[in-house]
Formats: sequence, structure tokens, C-alpha cells
Amino acid sequence: MSGLFITLEGPEGAGKTTNRDYLAAGLRAAGREVVLTREPGGTPLAERIRELLLAPSSEPMAVDTELLLVFAARAQHLAEVIRPALAHGAVVLCDRFTDASYAYQGGGRGVPEARIATLENFVQGDLRPDLTLVFDLPVEVGLARAAARGRLDRFELEGRAFFVAVRQAYLRRAAGDPARYRVVDAGRPLAEVQRSLDDLLPQLLAPRGV
Ligand SMILES: Nc1ncnc2c1ncn2[C@@H]1O[C@H](COP(=O)(O)OP(=O)(O)OP(=O)(O)O)[C@@H](O)[C@H]1O
Ligand SMILES: [Mg+2]
Repeated sequence: MSGLFITLEGPEGAGKTTNRDYLAAGLRAAGREVVLTREPGGTPLAERIRELLLAPSSEPMAVDTELLLVFAARAQHLAEVIRPALAHGAVVLCDRFTDASYAYQGGGRGVPEARIATLENFVQGDLRPDLTLVFDLPVEVGLARAAARGRLDRFELEGRAFFVAVRQAYLRRAAGDPARYRVVDAGRPLAEVQRSLDDLLPQLLAPRGV
């Protein structure tokens, strides 16, 4: 595969989507083809699975159901969008990916990491992101940004402890593989965050990418 696969991670309100679009503009200005996408979702069928995952429901969703739905959506997204785009050399900027499964289903819900790794290998084979940006934010700030937006989804309805565990899981993964992850302090003003992304661009545009 000759493309570049970049994922953006972090809690709700961390600035993933804002900065995904900002990075895309920089890459496009330099002549790269960019595919913007997100998880769960990214194809019509996977977006329907997203709706199942996010809608609050009176029937509690079993943890394994949630985990399998996330990976079912991912299988569809990989087949329809991510693998084809990488195969023809695009930069794929994906808002959340498998690190979110480790953070939310692993850290948040308590699914053992090894089970997630089994599904990761099953669904992705050896495909992993080339670079993962973790937008890190104090839990209270993220919760306040989510609340300010109004109606909360099934995850946003979780308590503080859940989001503390999510944050810790992201930071643990980033610390475990510094070559693949960059932790971005997303609590700074947006202009500062984006200056740090500008510093990354030359590296992303280098012939061999990250
Ligand atoms: N560094 C920042 N400082 C202040 N506000 C910010 C910053 N980054 C983003 N925002 C604002 O916070 C809100 C959420 O940003 P954005 O939608 O990009 O987050 P997100 O990580 O994609 O959230 P979600 O997971 O809910 O999709 C937006 O209104 C955005 O303008
Ligand atoms: Mg977003």
C-alpha cells in the first residue's frame, strides 16, 4: 500500500474533526489526495451501525455486542473506503479508529485488551495506522464541550470514571509506541494546537511519509 493512514483519537470535544479538516487543507495545498472519513461509520452501512451504537436505548447493550458492532462497522469501512484509498496512494485521515476500541470498549467498558487485539488482527490483518494523533484533554473540559452541544449520545451519558479510564487507555497506548503516536495537548487554544500540526506537515509530505 502506498498511501498514508492517519488516525485522530481522543474524547468527545477534543477537536478531532476540526483538526482533521485543518490537516486535510494543508495536505491538499501540497498536492496530496486526501480522503476524510470517520468511525464508527464511513460508509452508508457502517453509518447505520453507528446509529445503533450511539442511540440511547432502554435495552442495555451487552459489552460484547458493542465491541462486535464496532468491528463490524470497521470491516465494512476498511473494505469500502480505507483499503481502496490507501491502495491508490491517498492520505486517509480517519476520525477515530481501533485505538478508540481499546480506549472505550477496553478502558471504558473493561474488555480485556487481548480480546480486542484478537478482533483487530481478524478484521485488519496487519493493517495499522502509520500515525495516530491523540488529542488529549482534561476529562472535565471534554465533558463540558459535549454538554454544550446539547443532546448526549449513549457514550456521552457515561459518568466521569468512564472518561477517566478512556483517557488513561489512550495515554497508555501512546506511551507504549512513541514511533506511531503523537499526543497533542488539546487543552491549548486552537491556534496553538494547529501550529503544532503545521510542524508535522513536512514529515507527512516526505516521500516515505511518517
Ligand atoms: N483547542 C480548542 N480550544 C477551544 N475550542 C476548541 C478547540 N478545539 C476544538 N474546539 C471546539 O470544540 C468543539 C468540538 O470540536 P470538534 O467537533 O472538532 O471535536 P471532536 O473531537 O471532533 O468531538 P466529537 O468526538 O464529539 O466529534 C468545536 O466547537 C470546536 O470549535
Ligand atoms: Mg468529531
